[in-house]
Amino acid sequence: MDQIVIKGGRPLRGEITIGGAKNAALPLMAASLLTDETLTLANLPHLVDITTMVHLLGELGVDVSMAGDAPNGGHAGRVLNLTARDEQGFTAPYDLVRKMRASVLVLGPLLARRGEAKVSLPGGCAIGTRPVDIHLDALSQMGAELDLEAGYIHARAPKGLKGAHVVFPAVSVGATENLLMAAALAEGETQLANAAREPEIGDLAQCLNAMGAKIEGIGTDVLRIQGVDRLHGATYSVIPDRIETGTYAAAAAITGGDLVLKNTRLDFIDSVIDVLAKAGVSITEEEDGIRVKRANNQLTGIDVSTEPYPGFPTDMQAQIMALMCVADGASLITETIFENRFMHVPELSRMGADITVHGSSAMVRGVPRLHGAELMATDLRASVSLVLAGLAAEGETRVNRVYHLDRGYERVEEKLAACGASIRRAEAQPAA
Ligand code: UD1
Repeated sequence: MDQIVIKGGRPLRGEITIGGAKNAALPLMAASLLTDETLTLANLPHLVDITTMVHLLGELGVDVSMAGDAPNGGHAGRVLNLTARDEQGFTAPYDLVRKMRASVLVLGPLLARRGEAKVSLPGGCAIGTRPVDIHLDALSQMGAELDLEAGYIHARAPKGLKGAHVVFPAVSVGATENLLMAAALAEGETQLANAAREPEIGDLAQCLNAMGAKIEGIGTDVLRIQGVDRLHGATYSVIPDRIETGTYAAAAAITGGDLVLKNTRLDFIDSVIDVLAKAGVSITEEEDGIRVKRANNQLTGIDVSTEPYPGFPTDMQAQIMALMCVADGASLITETIFENRFMHVPELSRMGADITVHGSSAMVRGVPRLHGAELMATDLRASVSLVLAGLAAEGETRVNRVYHLDRGYERVEEKLAACGASIRRAEAQPAA
């Protein structure tokens, strides 16, 4: 198994190109189940989660082919044509759902288009229990009949789904996406209140509209969908990844560097910019992206609480904590979205960080420097926070279980090395 080996202490300087958003790409790919015409998606990132979704859609009768030329010949793999040719299947097997929770996003479209869906329950997850009750309650309000059988959700809508006025009891990104796709082909009007407002949801809604759906209220917490009989093919380009953007901004900040992040959008990360600016990091808009710089000033500790969009994203919590470990003074980091999302804390502590967890808050007292250590990645964002800490630490850091990183960060070590980091991928040495 691979590990990432970092020698810390080098300020990052240069340019990093940001890829398409993983969390936008996954629901957009699932939307291909809503039509038998071809959905062409561009600006897809090269990530393990995207490959897992390709396999899942393949199981469900979707032909996936690469398009879009690479500069050196062949296909860049960033453009995919997805065509649901065989619309008989309706089962998302445990083996694939277990690998990636977002597999549950096929539930809404399968039910809407094929009248039946059997999706394995995602099961336990490293960052809390993460149930799917909100998805299921809302689908049943649209007339779906639901049974739980041998670890599978079996949903049926033999006469089709019916429009409903759904008020989500809590904000859920995945439930909003599933219901949006289901409502697009339902009979009559659906209203989704207390909907999530993440940019990835706006992206899905725009793409569905390009496929012939009638969705209003995009960007607000009330979405109104007028169901249509059928959707058609479309060509759509995925938005830039705001979490990858925020992560590299944090990398510039923690190393006292100066990075230009290309192909990204400042307006998706207002809350992150706000936090970084208060911590002493300068962020300015450039023609084709943003510039993030921390010159000679010390970072300042500030308090951060995660919230649904437009609040501070839970997917940036671990990275900001790494930053606060070496800031002046104390900061209180509160996680309000997921339980048990502090698994990076013991690892950061092994690098010399001073962190005390009280329930859903972590008190971080900044230390002058972290020192390198051998570490274990536990989930996607936790692992990248350890890479950030390693970039700033004295000496060598080895991060094990890199497969978590590969689910969500494309060529992370290449992108960082190109900006002056001493970082490489190596085979982990077997334990003696
Ligand atoms: C998505 C993102 C993930 C991000 C999260 C919150 C994707 C592929 N993943 O995950 O990276 O961290 O949004 O921004 O886009 N909940 C329930 N019942 C449900 C659904 C959710 O209790 O039926 C709870 C969850 O356990 C969690 C909270 O609601 O505590 C938010 O979860 P949700 O917004 O649904 O996250 P995901 O869509 O799984």
